[in-house]
Amino acid sequence: YAVAVLYGGTSGEREVSLNSGTCCARALEEKGFAVTMIDPASRDDLKRLVEETFDVAFLALHGKGGEDGTMQGFLETLGIPYTGSGILSNAIAINKGKSKELYESAGLRVAASVLVGRNDVLDDADRQEIVDTCGIPCVVKPSTEGSSLGMTIVRDASDLQAALDTALAVDDEAMVEQFIDGIELTVGVMGSDDPTAFPVIQILSNDDEFYNYHAKYAAGGSTHICPAPISEEATDQAQGMAVAAHAVLGCKGISRTDIMLDEEGRCWVLETNTLPGMTDTSLIPDAARAVGMDFGDVCEKLIEMALA
Ligand code: DAL
Ligand code: MG
Repeated sequence: YAVAVLYGGTSGEREVSLNSGTCCARALEEKGFAVTMIDPASRDDLKRLVEETFDVAFLALHGKGGEDGTMQGFLETLGIPYTGSGILSNAIAINKGKSKELYESAGLRVAASVLVGRNDVLDDADRQEIVDTCGIPCVVKPSTEGSSLGMTIVRDASDLQAALDTALAVDDEAMVEQFIDGIELTVGVMGSDDPTAFPVIQILSNDDEFYNYHAKYAAGGSTHICPAPISEEATDQAQGMAVAAHAVLGCKGISRTDIMLDEEGRCWVLETNTLPGMTDTSLIPDAARAVGMDFGDVCEKLIEMALA
């Protein structure tokens, strides 16, 4: 098969995507696929998608312009099958407010939250209302970014506005969310009609306060434990939650749902990544190895599902 590996792009997660794309391309070549690298930040590269013939597009993009349905729409217009979820699933999953509505409709436990638009002018009473709803500490994040970009933990109500300004500098909308204290978990799910969960991973951030951009990507920034050393009950709950999130979003191929496990043993869904990181040290490849699938097997399976 002729495979176009789409990577790079213009989102805040470009660097991660370059890394994912390089790793996936190497693995696919080892499996015997003919690989062409396409960086959607380059018009010349995009032209090749239009003018040349590819059997399938392998998406190694993260964030806007790739994990949000836009590239999926372009590929559908060109008639090129692609890995992962469709337009609508990506478009909803990248939006933290819209995806939360779907999680709630599926009965999944979500943190209390308030959305603030870039043009909303808040006075003290508005900010107080947000603090009353979400509590302190709370988390402020851009509605449609990945990798914790533009995210702040607010530990003092007087810092709320500054955190909103940070998030709204990179997005039209910000979400203020109740801070869930506990163990950070992530669960990969594979499959389309009959999705199954990979073993649960526990993430230990070696950075100051949360699994932030630095902890995610710097060498030694974090440690993954797979399978997570949590109770069987918590494992079932986390895996069930990830499968339910994948299903309610209508995901295909692969997804990875980030979850907090609180001190009372309750899981809270944070978000679902429709194009999770696929570098050698990423979470999904780690989880897959725990069930005997190597990196190349995961990439090949994604292509099989795209062509099914
Ligand atoms: N958004 C990054 C790539 C991840 O979830 O793996
Ligand atoms: Mg993400």
